Amino acid sequence: MTVSILRKLAGALALALMVTYGGAATFTGSPMLEVSQAEAQSGVAGEIPGSPRGALSQAEMWRAVRGGIEGTVSIPDQQAAVLVQSDGEFWRAVKNGPLSQFGGIFLLISVVAIVAFYLLRGRIRIDHGPDPQGRTILRFNALERAVHWLVASSFIVLALTGLNILYGRYVILPIIGPEAFGTLSYYGKLSHNYLGFPFMLGIVMMFLLWVRNNIPGKHDLVWLAQGGGLFSKNLHPPSPRFNAGQKLIFWLVVLGGGSLSASGLALMFPDQIQPWAGTFAFINYFGANLPTDLSMLQETQLSVIWHSFVALVMIGIVIGHIYIGSLGMEGAIDAVGSGHVDLNWAKEHHNLWVEEELAKEGASGSQGGARQPAE
Ligand code: HEM
Repeated sequence: MTVSILRKLAGALALALMVTYGGAATFTGSPMLEVSQAEAQSGVAGEIPGSPRGALSQAEMWRAVRGGIEGTVSIPDQQAAVLVQSDGEFWRAVKNGPLSQFGGIFLLISVVAIVAFYLLRGRIRIDHGPDPQGRTILRFNALERAVHWLVASSFIVLALTGLNILYGRYVILPIIGPEAFGTLSYYGKLSHNYLGFPFMLGIVMMFLLWVRNNIPGKHDLVWLAQGGGLFSKNLHPPSPRFNAGQKLIFWLVVLGGGSLSASGLALMFPDQIQPWAGTFAFINYFGANLPTDLSMLQETQLSVIWHSFVALVMIGIVIGHIYIGSLGMEGAIDAVGSGHVDLNWAKEHHNLWVEEELAKEGASGSQGGARQPAE
């Protein structure tokens, strides 16, 4: 009786051992139960890193892991081969720290500066008053106006949806709650992705239409030295079609918008577009020593930082442009509204351009420049 029980127990034990051995051999892929270093995640096969009680220090191994040690994976996402990407921590600290904080402060300063300017200077009027006969001059044709509004409307939605991505969870989420914020952010992100394309088209067209009027010229320094005459009445430095301030806005929009577009495309297509290694290699020609061997994830992290930085600078400056183009200056909005601006406004702000237009009109006998008001 006792012998048969012992025999059964020994049989069960042997079976359990065989099953365990079979499982282990299948798992390790070796009848000798050898475990590769990577599988064991430590120098000693089967050892738990740090030991179960965490008593064993494995500083070398963790240093290697934190240094971005890379293995191989057979899944499509090759980035999964990096066990821990420690740069991500630095990236998150910069993005949620100085970038967001200084960005927010910069936007606030921009708004406060505009309010202060309005309180001190008030609305900039046409010093000589509107043309007594109501004469106007064509400032921007239909194509120019359409392009302006293509860029402006897409930029405004991109700016608002982008700010929501950066600050929404702190500012909007507590006000409207998680459900509404989820929906808002979902559609916001979709718009942000798709409106990048009309924005890019607008930037290219704006460049082609206006570049010849935005080459820096001899009047620009005088204009800048006199603060564009914006701070005192009856001061109007000579200006061609675009003054120095407008030229700065133009180049900010073209170069900043171009750079926003490039980094935005890199974020949309991280597999195909990785601009930083090349950019750094170019900068290194001038004596810098930037890394040029970047992983896809590092490329993406740099693009996020740059994209947000350029966007914040552009938004802060464009707020000023919107103010001066609408509330801040009598008569300006007509340039991008009907396209015809008051003749006195044009003479005060762009005298050299008006002279040119009137000379052209005189030479051709056409009505392309100044026109009488419609009856
Ligand atoms: C509601 C928003 C906006 C208003 C009211 C506005 C108004 C104006 C006005 C009145 C002008 C013509 C100035 C002149 O005749 O000398 C102008 C030109 C221009 N706008 Fe806008 N704009 C707005 C948004 C934008 C945005 C978002 C951008 C780009 C991101 C932009 C880029 C430009 C550029 C590059 C010019 C030509 C250079 C200049 O005049 O500064 N605008 N805008």
